[in-house]
Amino acid sequence: MIKRSLYIPIVLVLIVISGVGMYFLLEEMFQLVAPMVEEAAPIEKMFTAHYIIIAGLFALVTVFLLFSIVAFRRKPGDDSDGEYTHGNTAIEVAWTVLPLVLVVGFAIWGVRLFNDLTDAEAYEARNPIEVNVTGFKWGWRFEYPAQGDANDPDSFYLEKSYELSNLYLPKGRVAKLNLTSEDILHAFWVPAFRIKQDVLPDVNRTIYFTPNVTNEEYLANEGATADDRGYRGVPKVRCAEICGTSHAYMLAGVEVVEEADYLEIIDKASQISTDPLVRGQQWYTEYACAGCHSLDGSDGSGPTWQGIYGRDQVMDDGTVVVTDDEYLRESIYDPNAKLVSGYVAGVMTQTFEQQFAEKEAIVLEETGLEIDMVDDLIEYMKTLE
Ligand code: CUA
Repeated sequence: MIKRSLYIPIVLVLIVISGVGMYFLLEEMFQLVAPMVEEAAPIEKMFTAHYIIIAGLFALVTVFLLFSIVAFRRKPGDDSDGEYTHGNTAIEVAWTVLPLVLVVGFAIWGVRLFNDLTDAEAYEARNPIEVNVTGFKWGWRFEYPAQGDANDPDSFYLEKSYELSNLYLPKGRVAKLNLTSEDILHAFWVPAFRIKQDVLPDVNRTIYFTPNVTNEEYLANEGATADDRGYRGVPKVRCAEICGTSHAYMLAGVEVVEEADYLEIIDKASQISTDPLVRGQQWYTEYACAGCHSLDGSDGSGPTWQGIYGRDQVMDDGTVVVTDDEYLRESIYDPNAKLVSGYVAGVMTQTFEQQFAEKEAIVLEETGLEIDMVDDLIEYMKTLE
């Protein structure tokens, strides 16, 4: 039988032990990927503080509860009434004031940190690289406008503009992203950047952050390789707003590189192959076809591309159509014209005719290459047995 005078010390010791245990459990359960930006440190400090508070509160409540169940359970044969107690002013004041101080403290901390992370003036003074980001159903496009001053060594200088399907950023340089959506609500999110921003149609939102780790260093920190899939592998832009059937596949690659290598890397990334098949494969990823059309026969929001070329396809009105060049072009430019049985109208982007025409014009102007993107895609489809 434990003496009553020992109850409180025992409870306190148990609270400390289970609080510490709970803290490490939380850290283990909610592991974040290795950070890639300067801004991660203060954000992580806040996460840690939250975990400490959560673990402490959890221990306080459960230890008292479980200890009371054991220590104060009814003795055999004891039918008497419980002892009457009338509150405890000190405890009541404490459990009102303490949480209040904590919550207000966190609010002040949070607002100040948020103000730091969104301080446009301070970030602008550090000569950021500017990238225009467009989210759409279901992918991302990144425009790198010509910017900076060749005579100003501090500014980030790009002689001409680029349009790429991945996010390329130089290490150690503030990144300024202007975000907008082509259709509906999306949200820009890179877990390793610790930031998230809603992406809205007809509205421009700007975020700043400072990558300080290259992809290579990131993979080493994560103990991962470029082939690893999911969160641990190559960092990715994700969409954090449920935006329809292929929301989960709304991905783009992130590449943080040394600033000295930057130009060479985006030059290479923007090169257009002279081989239609290679281009077709490139458009498949760049225009986010992958979000809906699998290559392995699995079902998506759209029919799989495995064996798509030249097969008999049953339409929703019961007719059978051969998927030849003409049909495929019509289905890419005007997806609702003929609907494959079992699929829904209006899911696929209906602006590819215009988007492709613009891209073809840019390619012609920049490389002198006359391409037909639908032909390229069909070349690619033919290889997908
Ligand atoms: Cu876009 Cu989810």
